[in-house]
Amino acid sequence: MREDAIEREIEGMLGLRERREKDSELYKIANEVFDRTTKETLAYFHRRGKIESLYGVISTGKEANVFAGVDAEGNKIAVKIYRTYTTEFRRIWEYLAADPRVGYLPKDMRKLVFVWTRREFKNLQRAIKYAVRVPEPVIFRNNVLVMEFIGDELPAPRLKDVERSLEPLDFEELYDFTMGVIERLWKRGDMVHGDLSEYNILLHDRPVVIDWSQATVKRNRMSVELLKRDLRNVINYFGRKGVDVDDFDDKFRELVEV
Ligand SMILES: Nc1ncnc2c1ncn2[C@@H]1O[C@H](COP(=O)(O)OP(=O)(O)O)[C@@H](O)[C@H]1O
Ligand SMILES: [Mg+2]
Repeated sequence: MREDAIEREIEGMLGLRERREKDSELYKIANEVFDRTTKETLAYFHRRGKIESLYGVISTGKEANVFAGVDAEGNKIAVKIYRTYTTEFRRIWEYLAADPRVGYLPKDMRKLVFVWTRREFKNLQRAIKYAVRVPEPVIFRNNVLVMEFIGDELPAPRLKDVERSLEPLDFEELYDFTMGVIERLWKRGDMVHGDLSEYNILLHDRPVVIDWSQATVKRNRMSVELLKRDLRNVINYFGRKGVDVDDFDDKFRELVEV
């Protein structure tokens, strides 16, 4: 696609023509992080109706930014856009190198991020198969992942955002939910999330587990380490919230020694 055609698609997608919010947060972030590849990819999705518009910034992170949008049919979507330039290159490389599902590893940072994005998409699909509630993955290409939007008008809050207002009872239930996710993934799905915490659980009508970029399969040589990390984080967190949590060693043994 030609440069000016791409720019037009992007402008249409951000609604800049109509709204003239050239100084909005959305516009600033888009300007800062949308490189040529990202623009091309977004333009591609826009032309195919996968992303009709992006109207808000949900989150800005070291590795990725998440936007709220709608597709051409009016469905709300969340669009996770990985930075093609990231200081996390080393970590991403190490995680991917340990994953037996990942074959050839590109040396080029941009292409490595594409592999990372694809893996998160595959992880979402795999988690759904084992009845773990996650945002439904819609499509991915290069460094852009489109998924179901979790929320109503606003994006659903993270557990971390609402913990102060929760009753002890809710923590009990959320602990059972979260431990259930760890167990189901590991035992039935041969899988581990690897970054399961109060930051990656959204509370909607039901809790939803997000951020599957680190998730991997049991066959990965790092999987037991990741399982320990998830167990430790979850047990410590809910323990601090007053839940009568499992003993870490017991739970770990129960899971790995079958
Ligand atoms: N599908 C979604 N629907 C609504 N909000 C989302 C969705 N995915 C991510 N978010 C929001 O964006 C934030 C960052 O997304 P996440 O996947 O956790 O990336 P990061 O690697 O930056 O932590 C989340 O904490 C959550 O608030
Ligand atoms: Mg996260």
